[in-house]
Amino acid sequence: MTSSELIAQSKTRVIAIANQKGGVGKTTTTVNLGAALAELGQRVLLIDLDPQANASTGLGINPRAIEKNMYDVLLGDTPLEDTLEPVADVEGLFVAPSSLDLAGAEIELVPGFNRERRLIDALAPIVGDYDYVFIDCPPSLGLLTINALVAATEVLVPIQCEYYALEGVGQLVRNVELVRKSLNQSLEISTIVLVMYDARTKLAGQVVDEVRNHFGEKVCKIVIPRVVRLSEAPSYGQPITVFDPENRGAQAYRDLANEVLGNELNLDDDNVPSSGGVEIVPERESDPAPDDLAPDDPAPDDPAPDDPAPPQPQLGLDEPTAAPIKRPSGLGATMILGGSPEVMPEADSETLEENE
Ligand SMILES: Nc1ncnc2c1ncn2[C@@H]1O[C@H](COP(=O)(O)OP(=O)(O)O)[C@@H](O)[C@H]1O
Ligand SMILES: [Mg+2]
Repeated sequence: MTSSELIAQSKTRVIAIANQKGGVGKTTTTVNLGAALAELGQRVLLIDLDPQANASTGLGINPRAIEKNMYDVLLGDTPLEDTLEPVADVEGLFVAPSSLDLAGAEIELVPGFNRERRLIDALAPIVGDYDYVFIDCPPSLGLLTINALVAATEVLVPIQCEYYALEGVGQLVRNVELVRKSLNQSLEISTIVLVMYDARTKLAGQVVDEVRNHFGEKVCKIVIPRVVRLSEAPSYGQPITVFDPENRGAQAYRDLANEVLGNELNLDDDNVPSSGGVEIVPERESDPAPDDLAPDDPAPDDPAPDDPAPPQPQLGLDEPTAAPIKRPSGLGATMILGGSPEVMPEADSETLEENE
């Protein structure tokens, strides 16, 4: 059996977390969704394919202190199994760590035989040991990401509720299509996760609606809020579910894990916002930075919530994607991608202000 057949026939969901923009929440989502799924009893493998190794360090693994990493797997003969590190305090969660050397892999792989299939061939022998495999991709569409897209059966794209949210997503969609046609027939963008949602800004609600209008049911109902604790957890080497289990960031990733598992959701949940009719949840950040952190911590970098003339969202989608536009029912707002959006009366900043 080929590696592709092995993976296609296993019950394991192999999910590449990709978006070639940096800083959009790929690693945060990989780490915390992975940990939340493990908490729910799933066996989860996180493959860190980013030379910056943020997923590894964010789970308490020091890339300098480990013997074998993903570089040795992709460019040497090291079996993937030999790199695996269990994550402290999260039963059932394992990491295949990255290292800075992986930056060179992008170039070193170029003349290599089977250079797009290194990861899938390494993963196939152990894929059946896990319920979920997440591949944290680097912020580029180079050979490392191609390896992830060849090994994966699904792509999860985190999208920030910010300006230019969709910048580059059109290109990612086209690349996934190319890989699907030439290297991996079973690949599809299955899941879009909206992250860093700030209910105080009109813009965030507009982005939520626009992304839902464009990608329809692929967009998760659960939206991840912008919370300081999510940005602090990595420096303690812990997922949010361990670092601050009661925090609403932890709850959001738990809810997302349930949604990914296909479990029933409580749709009254705070983490199901939409300015298009459901509800806008006012920000009630109650988790100040602990004293031992630098006082000039830049997060949360909030725009003024009461901006009298909110700028028009420029989502930056370079061109319409191939995805059919499925309008989910119950959403009121209509905005045209790249066009001039209407401002949604529901997302009234004055109403929000009263609640602060
Ligand atoms: N929901 C969130 N709330 C607050 N900060 C976040 C959130 N998600 C991510 N961050 C922070 O934003 C930065 C970029 O996120 P990261 O997951 O590393 O992005 P990527 O892997 O796409 O480069 C990090 O500092 C991270 O801690
Ligand atoms: Mg990252």
